[in-house]
Amino acid sequence: MKFSSSSSVFALGIILMTLVSQSYGNLKVGYYRGKCGKHNVEEIVFNVVKAYASKDPNTVGHLIRLQFHDCIVRGCDASVLVDGPKTEKTAKPNLSLGGFEVIDTAKDVLESVCPGVVSCSDILILAARSSVALYGGKWYDAETGRRDGWVSSQSEALKNLPSVNMPVQNAVHLFNSRGLTKEDFVVLLGGHTVGKVHCDKFQDRLYNFYNTRKPDPRMNPALLKTLRNTCPAKGKINSATFLDQTPKSYYRMDNGYYKQLVANRGVLEIDVNIANSPLTNSIVKKLAYSNDGFFLDKFGKAMIKMGRIGVLTGKQGEIRRSCGAINRH
Ligand code: HEM
Repeated sequence: MKFSSSSSVFALGIILMTLVSQSYGNLKVGYYRGKCGKHNVEEIVFNVVKAYASKDPNTVGHLIRLQFHDCIVRGCDASVLVDGPKTEKTAKPNLSLGGFEVIDTAKDVLESVCPGVVSCSDILILAARSSVALYGGKWYDAETGRRDGWVSSQSEALKNLPSVNMPVQNAVHLFNSRGLTKEDFVVLLGGHTVGKVHCDKFQDRLYNFYNTRKPDPRMNPALLKTLRNTCPAKGKINSATFLDQTPKSYYRMDNGYYKQLVANRGVLEIDVNIANSPLTNSIVKKLAYSNDGFFLDKFGKAMIKMGRIGVLTGKQGEIRRSCGAINRH
């Protein structure tokens, strides 16, 4: 992870943003321009992410996943950030989320310079974009103008978050129902090119795949050996490894994840399934055999599209004062 060029990444991003001014519904590129005194909201978020990410590269994966888990449940409304009993955060698949402190810090800084202006849902979207850009991805024009929601429910999260063994067809259907295409789904799974996964999410593939008492026959034998070392059969500690097993590219936004998939080196069952399903395997191959730029362009566009799910505007939501707590009671 190098940050030497991060200022130029940001500067270039701002130039692109002023050149291309699009809007989608009530969302807009550069919504906060001029709304926070002399302060540049997007730059503030970028700098907070940069500070955290320079200390802990896991930040990048945390923030990308956070956007997914927020947007897929009830839309991009910061419902995943709410603290308290039976909120989305408490749902099992969300227990391994990270990056909340990055959002909270950005929110604190923004509240100190322009209180009540910037929504937590927008901060989350801007933070994900910043981490993509900082770790080798392409800057994209994230849209802003969302308001924060009033509802966060554990059961809703459990119902809507996909499981690792969800059939590809059902996953495609889930994404379709959120306005995303089959290709968007495969491209967004490319978020797995950065970040970590815990043993309990794929242990069955190593030892007892669908009660066969054998490993998943589709797993490359060298990978099987490595992963069994990381995740012993009777291991008490739930260790973590990388979703993209390309050496030296663990924290890099690139198409390494797809290259691993076509080499039978996917870690999660869903990853393996998209490489094998007739619905999606040609998309996986195209992404694997094209250059990084092909994937990165598509990834940015798909993140923007995902950011449009269930957006709240005007009186449909609020600007939270603290991202973990809903203002309205
Ligand atoms: C069917 C869809 C998906 C399933 C079943 C799935 C499942 C998972 C699982 C089980 C993990 C590991 C969690 C852990 O053990 O800590 C994970 C990590 C991750 N996922 Fe997904 N995922 C899906 C789609 C996506 C999408 C669409 C994105 C992004 C746009 C994404 C981004 C990530 C990232 C970045 C990580 C690493 C998180 C970190 O390092 O903190 N995933 N995913």
